[in-house]
Amino acid sequence: MMQHFNHTDFNQWSRIYRANFINSLSGFKSVSLIGTSNKQGQPNLAIFSNIIHLGADPALIGFINRPLEAAPHTIANIESTGTYTINHIQESFYKKAHQTSAKYPSEISEFDTTGLTPLWRPSISSPFVGESVIQYALQLVEIIPIKLNRTFLVIGTITDAFVSKEWIEDDGFIDLEKAKSITSLGIDGYYNVQKIDRLPYAKP
Ligand SMILES: Cc1cc2nc3c(=O)[nH]c(=O)nc-3n(C[C@H](O)[C@H](O)[C@H](O)COP(=O)(O)O)c2cc1C
Repeated sequence: MMQHFNHTDFNQWSRIYRANFINSLSGFKSVSLIGTSNKQGQPNLAIFSNIIHLGADPALIGFINRPLEAAPHTIANIESTGTYTINHIQESFYKKAHQTSAKYPSEISEFDTTGLTPLWRPSISSPFVGESVIQYALQLVEIIPIKLNRTFLVIGTITDAFVSKEWIEDDGFIDLEKAKSITSLGIDGYYNVQKIDRLPYAKP
């Protein structure tokens, strides 16, 4: 039977139970690794799943960064260099990707601690993840502080994308199932995906 939960229930739950429940409720996420570096070229890598499409023309992507004390490094690097990379995760390295969420000090590179490979490309000042088969680079446009819970909406424009041609269909659709990009649920669930269908543009 379907159970009814409300605000009172949410408030009574333990922090972990509430985090698991509420984070699962909004559905499967576009989980990826965000690669950045500071001005001195010290790399940083962290897993993010609250990544959203804001528009295709211009090509804009947003992601939610938690309050600064919880997730300080990615956003600081983006503010100082103005660039970052987003790298899809495949099943072959999801455990290493998850490990990047650990609170390492700023002088420690998550590339070193997890064994993921930093990939530097000419004229892009942030590292990509060598193991990732779908990668794109962004230029910072705007950081919008959300006063309500001290999170940030970080908005970037896509400057470069690296995708194998074999996964791109004639109309531009990228078949992420073929690329084997995974998705996430809640704060620690990882899933492979399976396409049901592609449908024609809906008309009234
Ligand atoms: C599956 C998963 C998804 C996550 N998504 C986000 C997210 O969307 N935003 C965020 O700020 N932190 C997210 N985190 C937590 C960050 O990975 C973690 O705080 C990390 O240490 C931030 O690193 P930084 O300080 O190097 O930026 C997520 C963690 C996991 C395991």
